[in-house]
Amino acid sequence: MRTQVAIIGAGPAGLLLGQLLSRAGIDNIILERSSADHVLSRVRAGVLEGGTVALLDEAGCADRLHAEGLVHNGIEIAFSGECHRIDLKRHSGRSVTVYGQTEVTRDLMEARAALGRPTIYEAANVELHEFDTAAPYVTFTREDITERIDADFIAGCDGFHGISRRSVPTAAFSVFERVYPFGWLGVLADVPPAADELIYARHARGFALCSMRSPTRSRYYIQTDAADKVEMWTDDAFWDELRRRVPADAADRVVTGPSLEKSMAQLRSFVAEPMRFGRLFLCGDAAHIVPPTGAKGLNLAASDVHYLFGAIRDYFDSRSEAALDTYSARALARVWKAERFSWWMTAALHNLPEQGAFGERLQIAELDYLTHSDAAASVLAENYVGLPY
Ligand code: FAD
Ligand code: PHB
Repeated sequence: MRTQVAIIGAGPAGLLLGQLLSRAGIDNIILERSSADHVLSRVRAGVLEGGTVALLDEAGCADRLHAEGLVHNGIEIAFSGECHRIDLKRHSGRSVTVYGQTEVTRDLMEARAALGRPTIYEAANVELHEFDTAAPYVTFTREDITERIDADFIAGCDGFHGISRRSVPTAAFSVFERVYPFGWLGVLADVPPAADELIYARHARGFALCSMRSPTRSRYYIQTDAADKVEMWTDDAFWDELRRRVPADAADRVVTGPSLEKSMAQLRSFVAEPMRFGRLFLCGDAAHIVPPTGAKGLNLAASDVHYLFGAIRDYFDSRSEAALDTYSARALARVWKAERFSWWMTAALHNLPEQGAFGERLQIAELDYLTHSDAAASVLAENYVGLPY
């Protein structure tokens, strides 16, 4: 097979890039290791920045998002038994949209199917070749037969555990990483949310987050030990622990029910630099990971796609390589600001095992300042709604 852009991975990054390229008349093939059902079964992010929504609009797949997404103008920060609202709209002029990653993925998959563009699911043994030359290609096996796709470019959109970054010699890039000594246990349940907006709660027992997917579906998280396994947490134990960590009036409003899904996520900050190797471009989690506290993972994948799509379009429109040459630097400048924000929000809200009593007092002071200073609230709001592209 021959295409202009071979895209590895049908997560949000790969599907969004594919959709934008297809609409611009640029041929692309997506190769995905898993089945479509498996991709859709992974419950992950829930908060979209305005820039991400605008890109989904540009991709022509935001109708359901506009109809069903929940526009939020603020978030609650809870500590010392009380909730404090940060008015995102007042401080930044912008809002965020609560709409699950699963739904974003479903909309993108349907839009791709409607355009008749190919996605090869359950592609095994994907390998990247010759991407340091002008003639890169990808091989994979399907039903035990090895196939080959020749392309002008390869977009590595295959997430943190993907093959694209691992195909690059380690000497060709630098890695910056912090692994946190705790994880998040998430529960999805068909119960009405405890509040109209998200509650990010700091508690001596650990962080808790009250989020949602719709007026009848809630998503909750609690900080757990990094070594905890999902099986160690019954639904009842989860609900009890969640209610201990949020202020009493919010706890009273938590409606419990059987979990539809329950999963653990390890918290990690990670950046691989650069994001380009010849004709291979990394995009999204393949190049960087943030802890989910700032809701930035999916949104960063979208901003990478924005830069990469523009650069590839320029190349095919006018054979200009200028934007391809600056892709990595432009994407990384935004990535690092989101890394900083996600790290800061994680440190401000989690029980950090080594911080001691002094660190705890600083944490309370930080949150007290954040929720009582317009200047501090503006900094949070500007970052939370998403920095400009
Ligand atoms: P992914 O969504 O990881 O997609 C990559 C795709 O590539 C996958 O479909 C994968 O199957 C495929 N792939 C992998 N290897 C290969 C291969 N060798 N060949 C072909 N295909 C391959 N962000 C938030 O903002 N809030 C959250 O609550 C949140 N929770 C998360 C929980 C977990 C467990 C994880 C892992 C991430 C979470 N994130 C969260 C981050 C957010 O979901 C990601 O930033 C987002 O999914 C990135 O999209 P992506 O397309 O870059 O990568
Ligand atoms: C979610 O709803 O899954 C969610 C929301 C906000 C975050 C992280 C996850 O910061």
